[in-house]
Amino acid sequence: MSKRKDRRNAGQAFESVVAAVAPRDEEADDAPFFAHDAAPVSDDVLAASPDLSRVLTTQNDGRRELTKMKRFRFQLLHQWICENVPPSCRVADIGGGKGLLTYLLNQSGFTATTIDPIHQTLPAKYKDLTAGRQVRIAETETVSRLDLPFAPNMARDFDLLVALHAHGCNIALIDAAARFGKGFLVLPCCIIDEPLRPPPGMHWLQCVAEYAKGKGFAIKPFRLNFKGQNIGLYAAARPGGAG
Ligand SMILES: C[S@@+](CC[C@H](N)C(=O)[O-])C[C@H]1O[C@@H](n2cnc3c(N)ncnc32)[C@H](O)[C@@H]1O
Repeated sequence: MSKRKDRRNAGQAFESVVAAVAPRDEEADDAPFFAHDAAPVSDDVLAASPDLSRVLTTQNDGRRELTKMKRFRFQLLHQWICENVPPSCRVADIGGGKGLLTYLLNQSGFTATTIDPIHQTLPAKYKDLTAGRQVRIAETETVSRLDLPFAPNMARDFDLLVALHAHGCNIALIDAAARFGKGFLVLPCCIIDEPLRPPPGMHWLQCVAEYAKGKGFAIKPFRLNFKGQNIGLYAAARPGGAG
């Protein structure tokens, strides 16, 4: 690549980092860095990070980018967990909302529990991506739930702490995983109510990855094929952790 092209790419990457971390409301001191519905991290930002660039694939023309995105985040995350985590794992689905991820994991032999302070019932139906059809969930079906905000001690009863766009829980979850020797899987979205902010020039996702590495975790980043904040960070329990 020519030096000029290199400089242009670096400039574009810098612009997207600045745009991603800039507060939306400049009048508010504590304005969010980006909101739930903000554009996901750009390919340039990912490519510039040694940790996160592994989720990109090389296209026919040599460009490294994410492939076309779809919906169905719960189904896609369920699939990823089934392919990468043993079903003997007890999973806490923190900020799990209606509990669909928990439901799907339980169907696959995991023991999963939703932890979310706002009680919600399961959705009436979901799309089974493998069969390509809608599946109904009976009104009588339930999942195990703790209708409470996540608290560190809750981690004791699980092997893997999962947070799919869990509000304000990412850092607390990593701390709890480190303290109790558990694995974790986070797909961070907004930074609102998190206890730390990235230094200037660093994206929130990179900041979460750095924080977890600082706690001694080996991070495995992955990307799911849905629209929105779709980059996940997975870490198995640290060897010799508290267990
Ligand atoms: C953006 S929603 C994501 C819900 C679901 N995981 C999804 O992807 O649709 C954030 C969820 O975090 C939950 N939440 C907020 N504070 C929480 C806390 N302290 N502990 C656990 N869940 C929390 C909210 O109730 C909400 O269901």
